[in-house]
Amino acid sequence: MSEREKIRALAEEIARAAGAIQRARYETELTVRTKSASIDLVTEVDHACEALCVERIRAARPGDAILAEEGSGEDKPGASWRWVIDPLDGTMNFAHGYPRFCVSIGIELEGRAEIGVVYDPLLDELFAATRGLGAARNGRPIRVSGVRELGKALLATGFAYDVHRSIDDNIAHFASFVKRARGLRRDGSAALDLCYVAAGRFDGFWELKLHAWDVAAGNLMVEEAGGRTSDFAGNPASGDGRETVASNGAIHEAMLALLRRGD
Ligand code: IPD
Ligand code: CA
Ligand code: CA
Repeated sequence: MSEREKIRALAEEIARAAGAIQRARYETELTVRTKSASIDLVTEVDHACEALCVERIRAARPGDAILAEEGSGEDKPGASWRWVIDPLDGTMNFAHGYPRFCVSIGIELEGRAEIGVVYDPLLDELFAATRGLGAARNGRPIRVSGVRELGKALLATGFAYDVHRSIDDNIAHFASFVKRARGLRRDGSAALDLCYVAAGRFDGFWELKLHAWDVAAGNLMVEEAGGRTSDFAGNPASGDGRETVASNGAIHEAMLALLRRGD
């Protein structure tokens, strides 16, 4: 097994183990706290999943850097590999018993996304991609859709936790796409939204103010499934998630045009 194969196998094992915690705690009583805003939630399950991920990575690969959403990761200056982890993407869904959430693990080599693994524990769907080797769901290759017009597209988006107070709130774009697309979903897990673009379930996705851990695995998934990721100006995705557009490629320019015009 090459080092990349070993790392991917480890990421898949960790994602399944953290997902098992989520499955066991789904629809059980939770302690829900808030973070940056009254609608930005965190539960003990977010922390338990992160602890599991970080402990297992440290045990298996002590030299690797880790960026994890709840803050227990560790930068390792000079490390070649960095793990970028969202231990529970879709916390609001999880806290309300809405069955759409996942574990997301992206792994970078020298600053470039190399491996992505996203696990949905309720559907038992494991999405995985390795740069240059394509993307798969439960071991079967996935491809983006062939839809060529916004009028035939099912899109997804999301709103940042500052939506109650920020004027940069995605509402105008949301309204524009509702009027143009066949359908639009706000499903509450950016990492899964990106995997759904990769799998051809969604034709496109956009969101503002995401973070590296939301997109580290999903952006690679879309690219390896034949799609395109960018910022709102059409530049290649930077990895920080601040402006995220992902699509099957065919409708990308139409999405960018609408995001630019904002009409
Ligand atoms: C959130 C989800 C949601 C998106 C938010 C994210 P979290 O992540 O991905 O879909 O709209 O912007 O912050 O907080 O559940 O890990
Ligand atoms: Ca997230
Ligand atoms: Ca999270």
